[in-house]
Amino acid sequence: MTAMSRLRSTQWFGATGRSGMAHRSWMRSQGFTPEVFDGRPVIGIATTWSELAPCNVHLHRVAESVKRGVWQAGGFPLEFPAMALGETLLRPTAMLYRNLLAMEAEELMRANPLDGVVLLSGCDKTTPGLLMAAASVDLPAVMVTGGPMLNGKYQGTDVGSGTAVWRFEEDLVAGRMTQEECAFAEGCMARSNGHCMTMGTASTMASMAEALGMQLPYSATWPAVDARRYETAQRAGQVIVGLVRDDLRPSAIMTRAAFENAIRVNAAIGGSTNAVIHLLAIAGRLGVPLSLDDFDALARDVPTLVNLQPNGQYLMEDFCYAGGLPAVMRELAASGLLHADAITVTGSGAGANVADAPCWNREVIKTMAEPFQPAGTGTAVLRGNLAPGGAVIKQSASSPHLLKHRGRALAFDSPADYYAVSNDPDLDVDEDTVLVIRYCGPRGYPGMPEVSNVALPRKLLLRGVRDMVRICDGRMSGTAYGTVVLHVSPEAAAGGPLALVRTGDWITLDVPARTLTLEISDEELTARRARWEPPAPHASRGWTYLYTEHVMQADVGADLDFLVGASGHPVPKDSH
Ligand code: FES
Repeated sequence: MTAMSRLRSTQWFGATGRSGMAHRSWMRSQGFTPEVFDGRPVIGIATTWSELAPCNVHLHRVAESVKRGVWQAGGFPLEFPAMALGETLLRPTAMLYRNLLAMEAEELMRANPLDGVVLLSGCDKTTPGLLMAAASVDLPAVMVTGGPMLNGKYQGTDVGSGTAVWRFEEDLVAGRMTQEECAFAEGCMARSNGHCMTMGTASTMASMAEALGMQLPYSATWPAVDARRYETAQRAGQVIVGLVRDDLRPSAIMTRAAFENAIRVNAAIGGSTNAVIHLLAIAGRLGVPLSLDDFDALARDVPTLVNLQPNGQYLMEDFCYAGGLPAVMRELAASGLLHADAITVTGSGAGANVADAPCWNREVIKTMAEPFQPAGTGTAVLRGNLAPGGAVIKQSASSPHLLKHRGRALAFDSPADYYAVSNDPDLDVDEDTVLVIRYCGPRGYPGMPEVSNVALPRKLLLRGVRDMVRICDGRMSGTAYGTVVLHVSPEAAAGGPLALVRTGDWITLDVPARTLTLEISDEELTARRARWEPPAPHASRGWTYLYTEHVMQADVGADLDFLVGASGHPVPKDSH
């Protein structure tokens, strides 16, 4: 049996009698000629387009380019919407809905007459959500991310979307910027279609999709408005038809080797800590063994090669013109830090894809010999009695002098509780204080929002303090910076030790030793736990109820427990 003779779509469009007639007839209401039902592969184009997800608003046009490629290669393209998650608008957090997108897209791919899919994503959660879905369905799939915005421009300098927001806010509080200047700056940061153009979570996850082998080389970096983004989308349309013919599926591409490539690439690009959670969740769908500790172990030998905000100076547009991700992967390959034979959607190995990748600007993409930041400065995994399941810290976004720190805790049960007093000039806080912000995890907020890097107390900002240690069970935007311990597991809402910290307790952070310690005895910890009461549930119905009942902890990817694994793509029973 050839690949094409076992196409799923023929069970809909190739059927005889009433059933086949109904499937074809209703599709022809769109004006398709009968030849589209001649047994050619049907390619779904899952688009997360929405005006409520501005980073993805151009994906409808990207889909048109994909369709051109599918037609060229002899396929039949059909675009369909998947839940659009806009990072900036969705409350309490887009992360609450990542698994819902994954579940929706998985079911749509399986229930429809599709032989392969092209996944169109952009904003932070849309990329992992669609990859999780594709992994669980395991139909041939290619991703096309929407590309970054053009560089922001403000008063003659480049400003990064996201990253600049934190800086402008601090400058406003400290009196270095006026309200009018802030209002003007708003229009300068996000000035074209595309996702955030710093190395935030969207750029990171686009890079992860490319490093995993799920999107074509250079896809992560073409700006959203660059003609080559549309050219690449057309190419992806051609490629997916070939993948269906060859039956090359996500499970053959996203192997353990591919994840190791992605983790090392994440270290080399100074990527977001959110990649840790998303890669763990995707691996969970595929049954690929991957643990939190892999991120620390695999990244330790990898220096940061890319000089991009929030860690560095440049933005994604500069990264593109400097050579993009292939130039970085070529550096890793030359040092034996890339599994060159990991197969990708090109049909070639990751090493072959980047073998000749040029670099045009060594200010932006550094070499292994002279990196931007030395090996060992990437994301570290911490453990200790305060984080038995683990926690992470992005060393490159932290202040070096705070990576070994001992201070007294100032604990709050929510960011709102903290912000209610953060401007108080009499707040009992100094630069050695360790701010503890809790009940922000998957169950806690709910959805594990990006609230961990709370702004510093006004009193300290006015004294010129720009960083202090913060510890939280939530996440931090990939565009943000600061010495912030994130993803503390188990979270406070699940009864983790973070819930038991009291203001005045001593806490020791030792990143070189990878430890996070609450300096109280085991007996005291046990006594406090006995008196702890779980918070009231957030909901008694709907998605939030389902989510909080079933979400797993950050150290395993915060997927829902019943979504782990794959169900493949058997053709369901007929509908009439
Ligand atoms: Fe969509 Fe940053 S808000 S990528």
